Amino acid sequence: MGLLQFSPFSLCFFFLHITLFSNLCFSGDPSVYKELHITYATVKPLGIPQQVIAINGQFPGPLINVTTNNHLTVNVFNKLDEDILITWPGIQMRRNSWQDGVLGTNCPIPPKWNWTYQFQVKDQIGSFFYSPSTNFQRASGGFGPFVINNRDVIPIPFAKPYDEIFIMIGDWYKQNHVDLRSKLNAGKALGIPDGVLINGKGPYQYNNTLVPNGIDHEKIDVVPGKTYRVRVHNVGISTSLNFRIQNHNLFLVETEGYYTIQQNYTNFDIHAGQSFSFLLSTDQNASTDYYIVASARFVNESLWQKVTGVAVLHYKNSKGAVTGPLPPAPDDLYNPGASMNQARSIRVNTSSSGARPNPQGSFHYGSINITDTYILKVTPPVKINGNTRAIINGISFRKPDVPFRLADQKHLRGVYKLDFPSKPMNRTPVIDRSIINATYKGFIEIVLQNNDTTVQNFHLDGYSFFVVGMDYGNWSENSRNSYNKWDAISRSTTQVFPGAWTAVLVSLDNAGLWNLRAENLDRWYLGQETYLKVVNPEESGETDYAAPSNVMYCGPLQKFQTWRPNSSSSLTLGYGYKVLLGILVLIFTL
Ligand SMILES: *[C@@H]1O[C@H](CO)[C@@H](O)[C@H](O)[C@H]1NC(C)=O
Ligand SMILES: *[C@@H]1O[C@H](CO)[C@@H](O)[C@H](O)[C@H]1NC(C)=O
Ligand SMILES: *[C@@H]1O[C@H](CO)[C@@H](O)[C@H](O)[C@H]1NC(C)=O
Ligand SMILES: *[C@@H]1O[C@H](CO)[C@@H](O)[C@H](O)[C@H]1NC(C)=O
Ligand SMILES: *[C@@H]1O[C@H](CO)[C@@H](O)[C@H](O)[C@H]1NC(C)=O
Ligand SMILES: *[C@@H]1O[C@H](CO)[C@@H](O)[C@H](O)[C@H]1NC(C)=O
Ligand SMILES: *[C@@H]1O[C@H](CO)[C@@H](O)[C@H](O)[C@H]1NC(C)=O
Ligand SMILES: *[C@@H]1O[C@H](CO)[C@@H](O)[C@H](O)[C@H]1NC(C)=O
Ligand SMILES: *[C@@H]1O[C@H](CO)[C@@H](O)[C@H](O)[C@H]1NC(C)=O
Ligand SMILES: *[C@@H]1O[C@H](CO)[C@@H](O)[C@H](O)[C@H]1NC(C)=O
Ligand SMILES: *[C@@H]1O[C@H](CO)[C@@H](O)[C@H](O)[C@H]1NC(C)=O
Ligand SMILES: *[C@@H]1O[C@H](CO)[C@@H](O)[C@H](O)[C@H]1NC(C)=O
Repeated sequence: MGLLQFSPFSLCFFFLHITLFSNLCFSGDPSVYKELHITYATVKPLGIPQQVIAINGQFPGPLINVTTNNHLTVNVFNKLDEDILITWPGIQMRRNSWQDGVLGTNCPIPPKWNWTYQFQVKDQIGSFFYSPSTNFQRASGGFGPFVINNRDVIPIPFAKPYDEIFIMIGDWYKQNHVDLRSKLNAGKALGIPDGVLINGKGPYQYNNTLVPNGIDHEKIDVVPGKTYRVRVHNVGISTSLNFRIQNHNLFLVETEGYYTIQQNYTNFDIHAGQSFSFLLSTDQNASTDYYIVASARFVNESLWQKVTGVAVLHYKNSKGAVTGPLPPAPDDLYNPGASMNQARSIRVNTSSSGARPNPQGSFHYGSINITDTYILKVTPPVKINGNTRAIINGISFRKPDVPFRLADQKHLRGVYKLDFPSKPMNRTPVIDRSIINATYKGFIEIVLQNNDTTVQNFHLDGYSFFVVGMDYGNWSENSRNSYNKWDAISRSTTQVFPGAWTAVLVSLDNAGLWNLRAENLDRWYLGQETYLKVVNPEESGETDYAAPSNVMYCGPLQKFQTWRPNSSSSLTLGYGYKVLLGILVLIFTL
């Protein structure tokens, strides 16, 4: 193998390497380096072995733990047999959509390649996660928690917890992402999930009929008399989950980077793509362990009984295993509006400081004039040219084959259109690459109208938005009278209840190209997404970073891709391949 070390190929790469990264020298804020090696792994979360996507051998992936303003370098090694991109929902990538990791901003990382993301986690503190954005891969894993801590000079609005607990919940199928993808491609629905995983593990055997033998469950150890910060993320495909810990309150403090009004809840609805922090007081008598439950919401209980995640909270002084029924789920029959009321109760704490030293409440969003309104209506999937597709305002997004800003730079025309309709149109649904021509420094109102019968979640990259209102029925201009103009929560992922609307306000101060998408993975895959192009018409280049020097080219710009990944790096090339390459190199040098 020594041969390769001196091959012209690696030498050439060596020089390329120096020029590629020499302009990325940071000053001031500390730098953090992380490698993510993405591989397949075989685990049996629901009792039968299945292929999942692991990171650095872990499922779920490892924690990325950084502090506000850190410069982060993440070197991602794709050891799968298909393209991958990792995205960082909620991390704002200020003026740097080049690092966002979705197909409209980045070429996918091919199999056997690695690619290095570089970005600063600027002016944000809170709980996030990372996940794959391509090929339906999130359904097989590839996700992990991402925390941005406060700098010491910035206080947090509660006493420092004794320790932290990370909980990733999500619906799960025994089929992997490739099989699920084929199902969607064939126009079939995914059907009821096979279970709910908690930290990659199946349910605790709380009932022998419902949970078979041989399933490994998650057990979380705590000591009595302490306060823990529990960060919970719904990384599943689409199921809304109710999260609860038996006999314990969930004291809500933060969501997706913003501090909330601090309140106790006995159970909490967490929709796909959402993240929350709760404080947990270990104030119970530990007569037994306690159940941690994540159960499917708004479903027919008798059909979905097995779709329940159950883990165990174990006090150090616990006197025994937990038995008996699970703590009850909320009852929608008797209290149908409960989930929406709970969502409305999540408000920002206007007196606690955020990542910046000034208080968050000083931004009086309620008195800013709205510059544009987009009413985005989603309906159940439709057939377009014989294919089942998901739509927003009659448009199903065609997956990008080249990043849009890169296409702009290379004057490639016709890649996308800037004509996304601002209202639902009664027209024949089409598959298209239509994006929103957004106004830099504008203050836009996005009304998400859900005409479907299931909860739809929406996420916007590059920003947090104010969730100013949600209600059942059709949105109208009069609905604005009900907006919360004082302490609406700011976040990046919101649910839209079936037959209801959610209105968000966004201050477009972050130049770049930003993905607006369904967090319901199946809908995203079927085209329920678009982008916002936010450019400063006067000084493009100053408000928006230039492409990074390691930018990848693909699709119609493939010819500009000059470098290849370092072949002697830890990429797992087959032995035969290396020998072949060695021989070729030898022939080449002679
Ligand atoms: C994350 O980093 C912070 C600050 O460096 C540190 O205090 C904390 O213990 C780390 N958390 C974990 C879980 O590693
Ligand atoms: C790939 O990883 C190697 C380290 O193993 C690194 O030197 C190189 O810069 C990476 N390539 C890219 C394109 O990020
Ligand atoms: C287990 O679940 C089944 C199905 O819901 C139920 O009939 C049974 O009573 C449960 N068993 C126990 C011990 O709770
Ligand atoms: C919230 O619940 C905790 C633990 O049960 C309790 O100690 C605390 O007083 C409650 N706080 C509020 C504001 O209700
Ligand atoms: C422990 O708490 C449970 C639930 O609050 C209660 O039913 C039980 O009697 C308590 N046990 C002891 C030993 O205090
Ligand atoms: C739930 O499903 C069961 C079994 O298919 C069915 O009998 C029942 O009517 C359903 N309940 C509701 C409320 O739809
Ligand atoms: C808001 O945050 C402050 C700390 O900055 C805290 O003392 C206060 O209790 C919080 N208020 C509410 C209603 O959560
Ligand atoms: C908002 O618009 C109104 C009239 O439409 C105007 O009088 C007011 O000055 C505007 N406010 C701001 C802050 O621009
Ligand atoms: C996009 O909007 C800007 C003004 O905000 C306008 O000047 C430009 O013509 C629009 N582009 C298209 C293609 O509509
Ligand atoms: C909402 O609007 C649609 C037409 O777009 C109408 O058919 C429906 O009845 C309206 N729903 C309500 C609750 O007003
Ligand atoms: C969807 O819209 C149709 C008419 O356009 C209306 O009849 C139906 O009630 C709506 N359904 C929901 C769940 O909003
Ligand atoms: C290629 O990878 C090897 C092993 O990871 C490393 O030692 C070497 O510095 C890399 N070379 C370049 C040019 O990145």
